[in-house]
Amino acid sequence: MTSQADIHCHLIPYVDDGAQTAQVSEELIDMLCAQGVRTICCTPHLRRGMFETSDETVRMQFEKLKERAEKAGHGDISFFLSREYHADRLLLSALEKGTVIPYGESSNILLEFSNSHPLSDIHWFIRTVLDAGFRPLIAHVERYMQLWKARSLQKS
Ligand SMILES: [Fe+2]
Repeated sequence: MTSQADIHCHLIPYVDDGAQTAQVSEELIDMLCAQGVRTICCTPHLRRGMFETSDETVRMQFEKLKERAEKAGHGDISFFLSREYHADRLLLSALEKGTVIPYGESSNILLEFSNSHPLSDIHWFIRTVLDAGFRPLIAHVERYMQLWKARSLQKS
């Protein structure tokens, strides 16, 4: 079986709306492993007013997750930590402070928008992230109705 990578998941317990317990987290890792996933990039939310868990807490829970996975026999999985950065002031603050956590050694970060972001804000945030030296990967782009509407307007 070809090795797979999961680059967007919420496996770390107690940090966002993903896995709510260590047991659920372990079950999800078992499922990913059974599907041939051997690289897992954990991307807990960072979103103002909703998911503000600090990088420090996330890192602590991430280390515990890796320890549990190792004990459960998943020593062959490579784990990485990044965040799912919502386009808001917390992201701008992280860019300013230099605390953004990219995927491994790359400059890639996961960037999330909401349906209330106007197109001009989406463009602005993408430009700002690029100018800060990161490459934004747009999370679940299919959800952004404003992009669909803009696309259909271009076609008509
Ligand atoms: Fe997500």
